[in-house]
Amino acid sequence: MATKRIVIALTGASGVIYGIRLLEELSRVNQNIETIAIISEVAEEIIRIETDYDPSYVKSLANRVFSPKDLTAPVASGSYLFDAVVIVPCSMKTLGAIANGFASNLIVRVAEVAMKERRKLILVPRETPLSTIHLENMLKLSRAGVIILPACPAFYHRPKKISDLVDYIVGKILDQLGIEHELFKRWSGEILP
Ligand SMILES: Cc1cc2nc3c(=O)[nH]c(=O)nc-3n(C[C@H](O)[C@H](O)[C@H](O)COP(=O)(O)O)c2cc1C
Repeated sequence: MATKRIVIALTGASGVIYGIRLLEELSRVNQNIETIAIISEVAEEIIRIETDYDPSYVKSLANRVFSPKDLTAPVASGSYLFDAVVIVPCSMKTLGAIANGFASNLIVRVAEVAMKERRKLILVPRETPLSTIHLENMLKLSRAGVIILPACPAFYHRPKKISDLVDYIVGKILDQLGIEHELFKRWSGEILP
C-alpha cells in the first residue's frame, strides 16, 4: 500500500482550481501517495466554466477515479483503508448533506466513512456571505472533528498572481495532511519586500 491514500472530491462550488492544483501537487510530490478522485456533476461543469481544463485532464491527475453515483466503490466502505478525505471546493449543499448524514452520493458517503472511522476529513467551503444554516452546519462538523478550511487566502506572503493565492490554500491543505511543500512562504515575523 502507498504511504498515504487520499480521497479528493471536487464539488460544485466556485474555486475548482483549488482541487485541481491539489491533485497536480500530489501527483508531483515524490512521497508515495495514492490519490482517489471523485468529481460531482456540477464540479465538471464548473471546471469548464472557470478553467481552461477539461474534466478528463483533472481525472488523469489521480491514480483512481470513481463516479459520485457509484455507491459500490471501495471507498464507500469503512473496511477499505484510506488516510484522509479532502473535499475541495466543498459546496454548501454537500457540506449540509455531510452535517446531516444524508449520504445519497459517493462524496457524502466517503465523508461519512471518514467521520465514523475517525479518519481525517478536510472540507474547503467556498461561499459568501454565509447563512445561519451554513454556519450551524460548519460548527456541527467542526465539533465532530472535521477540519473546516475555508478558501480564504492570506496576503502576508505578498501574492503577485492568482496562482499564489490558490497555492496558499493548497499549501494549507497539505499542512493538514502532513505533506511537505514549498507552495508559499511561511510567516517568519519579517515583512517581505
Ligand atoms: C457557476 C456556479 C458557481 C457556484 N458556486 C457555488 C459556491 O461557490 N458555493 C456553493 O456552495 N455553491 C455554489 N454553486 C451551487 C452548487 O453548484 C449547487 O448547490 C449544487 O447543487 C452543488 O452540488 P454538488 O455539491 O453535488 O456538486 C455554484 C453553481 C454554479 C453553476
